Amino acid sequence: MQLISGYSKLSKIQKLEWLAQQASEQPTAFVDELTSYWHRDQAVQKRFDEFSENTLTNFYMPYGVAPNVLINGELYAVPMVIEESSVVAAASQAAKFWSERGGFKAKVLSTSKIGQVHFIWPGEYAKLYVHFDDLRERMLDNTALVTKNMRARGGGITSLDLVDMTHIEPGYYQIRGTFETVDSMGANFINTCLEEFARTLKEWAARQPDFSEAERQPMVIMSILSNYTPQCLVRAWVECPVADLGHFDDMPPETFAWKFQKAITIARHDVYRATTHNKGIFNGIDAVILATGNDFRAVEACGHAYASRDGQYRSLTQVSLEDGIFKFWIDLPMALGTVGGLTQLHPLVKRSFEILGHPNAQQLMMIAASLGLAQNFGAVRSLITSGIQKGHMKMHLLNILNHFEATPAETERAVEHFKHHVVSFSAVRELLEGWRVTASKPA
Ligand code: MEV
Repeated sequence: MQLISGYSKLSKIQKLEWLAQQASEQPTAFVDELTSYWHRDQAVQKRFDEFSENTLTNFYMPYGVAPNVLINGELYAVPMVIEESSVVAAASQAAKFWSERGGFKAKVLSTSKIGQVHFIWPGEYAKLYVHFDDLRERMLDNTALVTKNMRARGGGITSLDLVDMTHIEPGYYQIRGTFETVDSMGANFINTCLEEFARTLKEWAARQPDFSEAERQPMVIMSILSNYTPQCLVRAWVECPVADLGHFDDMPPETFAWKFQKAITIARHDVYRATTHNKGIFNGIDAVILATGNDFRAVEACGHAYASRDGQYRSLTQVSLEDGIFKFWIDLPMALGTVGGLTQLHPLVKRSFEILGHPNAQQLMMIAASLGLAQNFGAVRSLITSGIQKGHMKMHLLNILNHFEATPAETERAVEHFKHHVVSFSAVRELLEGWRVTASKPA
């Protein structure tokens, strides 16, 4: 691979051809393959190209739904975009299971988001603090135009505080804003406000008569929203009498509930297990976040920070067994949007919202949290009963068969065979090779 300058200025096909020459021994086939994934409608393709930079083609991911997701009495089929096998199946199975036991309940506990201007100022906190009401007023005035539409929709800047951070670094202060962004994720809105606060701070400080020369020049380090949104919190839960859990193969409901509780306790205390446990939760959540055009990196980062909020990384789900009632829940901060960003641009995201009945941001938070809970219930159920490999390997088998381009007849035969044999890549290869050699021998 060679260094190149001006790559971004090349046309799409020039970018592709350059890369093909650099990376592939068969440049023509390389270009043909990548262009074969272009959308047939040029306008749609142009839109995809413009989501990002140096776009060459589209990367396909499976898009499916988990049906029978009953949340607060309303039934949803939830769109999920995920490449991992068994995730949609597990979510669907858990959703069906709970739909027969009252479904998921969910509520949004709070919806505010935070943004910070980090700055260095060489004076005493008290001196800045006495002037802060004046500064706050100017910041609100100077952002009035930016916040106008948001305020009309019921959102805006809900508080602005000066935070003393000098215990961390001499002269380090923050302006901490809280924001309500209604149905938008609000990143652009918050960041625009913050940059205006920073500009106002500098302009205002320069004109303070009782400030020293140095105090008139605060040094803004950065202005950026926080993806940690513990006050943008949703809770989802399921509950039923232990006896109503029913039997899991041979396992009676009491044993199941007992083992389930132990599994959650382990994930609350052991970071190795907690990480895998929460990864399973995000299997469900990320899939919904992707299908609805939201920012899964932000949601994950926030979820993992929240999982460590008391200093120990813990399971995001909890369970209780009181008075014979099995209750299983998740509390999760999530900043989601149903307007703005990709939500009106990506054709499949628009379809996702259609499938979900056009939820608002709070409803989407409840749907995503319920899917996370469903996923976790499905995973823990498998882990404490049959183990996960049984289900996983069934799906994995299909992937391996696809890899070897098995015919429908071979697939059917192989699925039957592996009901009684251990699935592995080499076992599938050997089986197919055996059949194919036999089939090619003259009779
Ligand atoms: C696999 O993607 C997710 C699980 O490992 C989650 C878990 O262990 O809880 C099955």
